[in-house]
Parts: sequence; structure tokens; C-alpha cells
Amino acid sequence: MPGYEVIGEEEIHQINQIFSNGGILFRQGFEKLRNNCFKVKEFEKNFAIEKSVKYSLAVSSGTAALRVALAAIGISEGDEVITQSFTFVATVEAIVEAKAKPKICNINKTLNMDPEELKKSITPNTKAVIVVHMLGVPANIEEIKAICKDAKIHLIEDTAWGCGGSVHNKKLGTFGSVGTYSFDFAKTMTTGEGGMLVFNEKKYYDSASAWHDHGHENNPLFPRWEDTRKTSGFNFRMTELQGAVGIAQLKKLSKVIESQRFNKMAIKKQLKEIKDIEFREIPEGSYETADALIFFTKDKATAISCRDKLLENGLTTKILPEAYTWHFAGTWDHIKEISDNNPNYKNLLKPSHELLSKAVSIPITVKMSSDEPMRIKSSIQEAIKNIS
Ligand SMILES: Cc1ncc(COP(=O)(O)O)c(C=O)c1O
Repeated sequence: MPGYEVIGEEEIHQINQIFSNGGILFRQGFEKLRNNCFKVKEFEKNFAIEKSVKYSLAVSSGTAALRVALAAIGISEGDEVITQSFTFVATVEAIVEAKAKPKICNINKTLNMDPEELKKSITPNTKAVIVVHMLGVPANIEEIKAICKDAKIHLIEDTAWGCGGSVHNKKLGTFGSVGTYSFDFAKTMTTGEGGMLVFNEKKYYDSASAWHDHGHENNPLFPRWEDTRKTSGFNFRMTELQGAVGIAQLKKLSKVIESQRFNKMAIKKQLKEIKDIEFREIPEGSYETADALIFFTKDKATAISCRDKLLENGLTTKILPEAYTWHFAGTWDHIKEISDNNPNYKNLLKPSHELLSKAVSIPITVKMSSDEPMRIKSSIQEAIKNIS
């Protein structure tokens, strides 16, 4: 969560460099005016190194990153794309925008895609799976990767909440054909708005790079106005200002995550003393980004009571329970493509509803005050006592 908490001199310095080198805010061209200052390209290069991948491509948002990912692997009208029931609406919006058919799969106690449910959801029309590492906890990504490999379908990782996390030392976002990230203002590293894609296969990178830039191949043999193209595309380019902030934020990422993990442990240590709650499961081998600490209560009423008590005591929750309807696909009646593809989907998603409706999510920050873990514990204790 707290990229914004650590914005400082480093971001200002990076932005000032743009203006002291001609003030070019566009990622391409203007070579004679910019004194070799290419912030987006530098950000992409550094990001690829941090993730140990061959290619990365910066875009204007995490939603754009998902849309470009689907274009890059050739998803087209009528293809089925499976994603999980607990995610932000953006994941499904990208599928709908690609004219593909969204199919929603249940989660397990990691609150991410259940591999067994995924197996049941795959049909001959399935072309891709978008797994989401929600709120900093990795999905069962190794099992999911194996399932996708067996079924010969693409795996995309929506790593909006997992940037900097890993499983068995492999970075989240690097398990499938494409990984996507979000740098919006709520994320572990932020560029205000912004996103990134990572790839190891050149053909997907080339296609994404062209697609996010109106089909431009940026062919070095031609000036941009005569540039070659093979497909149409769109404009999802990142600006140099975002790139500059991204360079500074990326350098802070590992420290941000270390602090979040430390603070999460401090809160968890306190909450472990409460016997009526059960923590979200963390897959073996995970290195969490620790954006949130989520636990299950007895029922929905208890979860709401926890939220109310935390607010009353000057604390808060994050997404669960208050923003449940923006993050649980079982409530998205406004996206008719979900029900068109599966009229029975609400019934099928009952197990997800069962888990999410009784969950409480505590936000983790870098600059947590030392009394917060105790205050969170006593708020939860009071809330549970009031309801029983
Ligand atoms: C899981 C998930 N995917 C995608 C996005 C979209 O990212 P952005 O806000 O950068 O468009 C978000 C945003 O919160 C998200 O939570």
C-alpha cells in the first residue's frame, strides 16, 4: 500500500532531471533535445532487472497493462478467459474490452484462485487464465502454472498487489506468458497512475509494445512518421513524468516491503491471541508484500462489527468488508458479459461469498505507530464481544 508514504527528494530529483534536459515528456524521439534523458526506458530496464526477466513495458495504468497483455497473446472475440472471484473489477473489464468471454473461478482460503476450481472451469474454449495475487499474498501459482501448461493455455498474472513478492524466490509476475503490475496511488510502489508488463518471450513483448502505441513498431530504419506497422493498437503509453517517479520508487520497493512485513508481523502477533479468528492461508514458499492482514470471523455481522469498532477507535480496514462489492465478481450484475457466459455464475460463486463476507482486512503501512497493533487487537476483541 504505501508507495505514497515514501515519496520524497528522490522522486523530485528524477523529475527535475527531465526539465534540466529539455523537458521532453514523451517516451520516444526528440533525440536532439533531450540529452539522452529517457526516463520511461530507464524505468523499464531497471524493472526488468529487478524481476529477472528479459523485457518489460511501461503503460498508463494497471488496467491498461491487463488489456495490452490480452492483446499481446492474441486473445480475440469469443475466446474464454478465466479469472478469480476476488479481484478488482479492472481484471474483468480488461477481458470484456478484449471482446473475450469472462469466466469466474472460486477462491480458496488464500483468497486467490483455487487450483482445483480452475481445473473444473477450463473448457475447450479457454485460451487464458488471469490469476491475481490479491492484497499481497501469492496465489498457489506453481500449481496454477502446471494446470495451464497441461491445458496448453496462457497464464497471465495480475500482480497489481504483488509487486516485489515471490514464491520460492521467483518473482510474482514472472511465472506465465505475461505479468502485469499497477502503480496507482494505493499500491506498494506508485507513479500516481501507471502500470508495467513483463515478458520473457520477445514475440509477446514486440506485440505488446506495438499495441500500446497505435501499432508503432518503432522501426529504427524509418522515422516515426513513416514507421512500419502490422496491426492496429491503442494509446496506453506512459509519460516521462511517471517514468521518473517510477525509477525513484523502484529503488525503495524492497525497503517498503521489509517494513510492511515487519509491521504485519507485529499486528499478527497481537491478533494471534484472539481465538475466534482464523488467518488467511499463505502458500508455502511465499514472500508476501504484506499489503494487508486478512482474517476470517464467525460471520458477516462480526466482520461488519470489527470494521465499525476499528473506525470508532480511529483505525480502519482495507477493501474487506467495506469495498466487497467492488472486489467480488458475484455482485457484478452491471457486467452482463459475466452472466451471458455463465447464467448460473452467482450460485457457483457461493463458496467465495462465504469466505469473503466474513473477512476483515487490516491495511499495513510503513509508518505505523508503535501502539497500533495493540489498538487493533483491543478493537477486534471489543467487536467480537459486542456481537456474541
Ligand atoms: C487486482 C487489480 N488489478 C488491476 C487493477 C487496476 O490497476 P489500475 O488502478 O492501475 O488501473 C487494480 C487496481 O486496484 C487491482 O486491484
